[in-house]
Amino acid sequence: MVCTFLSQQPRLYHVGPLARIGPNHLLLSDPDAIRKMLAARSLYTRGPWYDSLRIDPHRANLITERDEKKHRVLRQQMAAGYAGNDVDELESTINERIAEWISYIRCNAASDASKTVRFDMARSMQYLTTDVISHLCFGEPFGFVKTHGDVYGFIATLESRLPFIENFSVIVELNRVLSAICSVPFLKNRLLPQPTDEDGLGKIVGISRKVVDKRFEPNAVPQNDILGSFLKNKIPREQAESEITISLFAGSDTTATSLRGTILHIATNPQVYSRLVNEISAASIAGKISNPMANEEAANLPFLQACIKEGLRIFPPITSLRERAVPAGGDTILGHFVPAGTNIGINMAGTMLNEVFGHDADVFRPDRWFEKDPAKLNRMERVHELVFGHGGTSCLGIRIANMTLNKTIVEPLSWYILSARFLVENYIKG
Ligand code: HEM
Repeated sequence: MVCTFLSQQPRLYHVGPLARIGPNHLLLSDPDAIRKMLAARSLYTRGPWYDSLRIDPHRANLITERDEKKHRVLRQQMAAGYAGNDVDELESTINERIAEWISYIRCNAASDASKTVRFDMARSMQYLTTDVISHLCFGEPFGFVKTHGDVYGFIATLESRLPFIENFSVIVELNRVLSAICSVPFLKNRLLPQPTDEDGLGKIVGISRKVVDKRFEPNAVPQNDILGSFLKNKIPREQAESEITISLFAGSDTTATSLRGTILHIATNPQVYSRLVNEISAASIAGKISNPMANEEAANLPFLQACIKEGLRIFPPITSLRERAVPAGGDTILGHFVPAGTNIGINMAGTMLNEVFGHDADVFRPDRWFEKDPAKLNRMERVHELVFGHGGTSCLGIRIANMTLNKTIVEPLSWYILSARFLVENYIKG
């Protein structure tokens, strides 16, 4: 049996490898051409689309910086923090947040014979990922899981802002107008989120400022966390505020979307579900899974890894255009000459349906990752890698994302397996 949930949706992303979507905008889904465009030494640069992601139109951060040199310096200063090299407790922090989440579900969301509890698992997973990133970047969780609520209206802001960005970011003139308006301080203060706001993005900006201010107090002890790593690597004070604010956008919604897509497909596909439960159960009986599960242990669960890969492929969490500008002199893409300055958007959902994945690319089938032909498997892996970007702007949070995905899928199932085993053992004992 296969899950046809996605294949029943209109496949708007089947538009061919190169499509024209605006007067000066193309959409690309050919993996080789995307790789070439994003490559470290490519002459393509981030296009004006990135300006629409800025919180303050006059201040860029790692994710929105279009100046190649400035971006490279920022990336060097932040890579160690995000990779966890400078962070003592990356894994234990993620464990702590997941333990709190499981405990919340156990106490508040478990149905039994006498009652049915309705529980929005998709929303709950976003509470978890936002707490993980806030704990890692701000030093403590914002409390989304504890309250099971949208603390500071952060998610509401995200959900109202993102569709606006997605719809209007290609109208680059709008950003120029906004930038000009925001040059007038009076208008800027009224239009942009302020650190004094009671909720929304402004509140997060305010918290970021307070957290960074604390690190600059006279007797402040340097911390071995992500922010500590940024500061150790000489990220200026105001830049650090902006970077930890944006880390919440980069890390929480993306990981929550991947979890939702993957778990939906596992849960609605009985064969996949039972194979995964069996794999986890066998590893647990053989003592190959600790409590909580270590990240390296997850790497030894091949079916789990196949499910996660397939989940990211069938439901890539970042489908924004992320446009690049064609360099001076133009370029020839898939046999078509494209003039300099044309904006090329990336069709990630379309790319993940590339023919390298076979005739059933639109179906969730983790088994495809057990491909016997090493050359074919390698081609699939190379296309799949693009989910996390490529080259000098590729995702810096891959380790955090993978750890969160591994643990958040395994821990609830382990709990379920342990409870089932406990029931069976007690039943046998009589
Ligand atoms: C499954 C989850 C995730 C996916 C699929 C993902 C994907 C991506 C992609 C495609 C990019 C490239 C953007 C571009 O081309 O401009 C990117 C960049 C980035 N991601 Fe992730 N991401 C995920 C999770 C995370 C997490 C958890 C963090 C950490 C908090 C993070 C931090 C970043 C940062 C800092 C960048 C900017 C890199 C740069 O501009 O040099 N991401 N991510």
